[in-house]
Amino acid sequence: MPRRRKRDIIIKGFSKLLKEDKLKIVADLMDNQIETIELLKSFWHADHSKQKIFDEFSENTISNFYIPYGVAPNMIVNGHNYLVPLVIEESSVVAAASSSARFWSEHGGFHAEVVDVMKIGQVHFLWKGEKKKFLAVFDKLKHYLKGAASDITANMEARGGGIVNMELIDMTDQIENYFQIKVSFDTVDSMGANFINSCLEEFASALQQFCRNQETFTEEEKECRIIMSILSNYTPQCLVKAWVECDFEELDKMDKDLTGRQFAEKFALAVKIAEVDVYRATTHNKGIFNGVDAVAIATGNDFRAIEAAGHTYAAKNGQYRSLSHVELKDGRFVYSLSIPLAMGTVGGLTSLHPLAKHSLEMLGKPTAKELMMIAASVGLANNFAAIRSLVTKGIQIGHMKMHLMNILNHFQATKEEKDKAVEYFVDHKVSFANVSKFIQEIRVK
Ligand code: MEV
Repeated sequence: MPRRRKRDIIIKGFSKLLKEDKLKIVADLMDNQIETIELLKSFWHADHSKQKIFDEFSENTISNFYIPYGVAPNMIVNGHNYLVPLVIEESSVVAAASSSARFWSEHGGFHAEVVDVMKIGQVHFLWKGEKKKFLAVFDKLKHYLKGAASDITANMEARGGGIVNMELIDMTDQIENYFQIKVSFDTVDSMGANFINSCLEEFASALQQFCRNQETFTEEEKECRIIMSILSNYTPQCLVKAWVECDFEELDKMDKDLTGRQFAEKFALAVKIAEVDVYRATTHNKGIFNGVDAVAIATGNDFRAIEAAGHTYAAKNGQYRSLSHVELKDGRFVYSLSIPLAMGTVGGLTSLHPLAKHSLEMLGKPTAKELMMIAASVGLANNFAAIRSLVTKGIQIGHMKMHLMNILNHFQATKEEKDKAVEYFVDHKVSFANVSKFIQEIRVK
């Protein structure tokens, strides 16, 4: 059968097949079956027990997708010197974080504080009645819901966390009869997604039961229709602030053509632009997430949740803005980042993924709060490196230098050719065309 036609066939029961059989089906849909199988298998871990761990993380695993695991040394946060693990494919991110870390290590290091660690979950439901009638029984309801989830919360409470608050939210002006029970949780060192969702589902059925049992409720009010129960990834109260500061003179060496004060002013203007212009703000914040995500992935945290919260937070006042800010005052450069970071250091992948576990060990087994402060500092470090380049020599020199290896690999350069290229491009502009020309020339010679 022609391959195009084969691709149109719906594959039934794929997830139930053995991995080898899945691989055969996938290969069969490609032009080069043997190479496909060889390629995908070549990335299987040689140690079967290690491979099994990865196979069991997700459904339909047929291979592993490698991303570099690097480290940024000299990251001083609140006086502790961290060697920070970073998982990222973009060539310049680790170099950028490292060079900022090195600079700030001699200028007081990064400072950070956790503002709060609250996480939110919601039970969304329809209820036809007057809010004040619901509020009259709300204290009783809270007690009832807490009791219903007590088996789930006992462990978390023993660790110092649990349910912190419950509110009734009336959204009937937006959707007819739509209310929420909005719950705040403290999940201590865990990200807590499973804990929160389990509590919420328990609350949902208890809420229905509670309504049914209310003698003061009419027959209609006894009916509570649950729509869904789920945590919110928007965590504005799980907030961390990181900052650096120095005298203007300490920035004198940032650029040969600018004094420290001029550099600080130009830098502050670049950040201001990201506060007022949404196009710039998006790229600016992307640079922050280069660092934050790399720490999140290296430590087994959910970087999609972190990104989602961060971008919503950036738009909290109705316009998407920079997450970092600069203040120039009394000859001082004060540069900060406030970012919601729902991170965990226990549970989830943090101990299941051998390298995530190792990353946390490398960081000295931090608490979730410490990890939040480290990740925020790395985000600020990456933002600093990006803005520094942008307002001085431009981003491409550094980027393309780091990208040189990728271009050389594209041309399948040998070790000798790579050595020659690295030497040559120390003082020549790296571009795809220039590298291509250079390789052709040395190959002719
Ligand atoms: C590239 O990954 C990130 C930057 O574009 C960030 C920025 O422009 O601020 C360099």
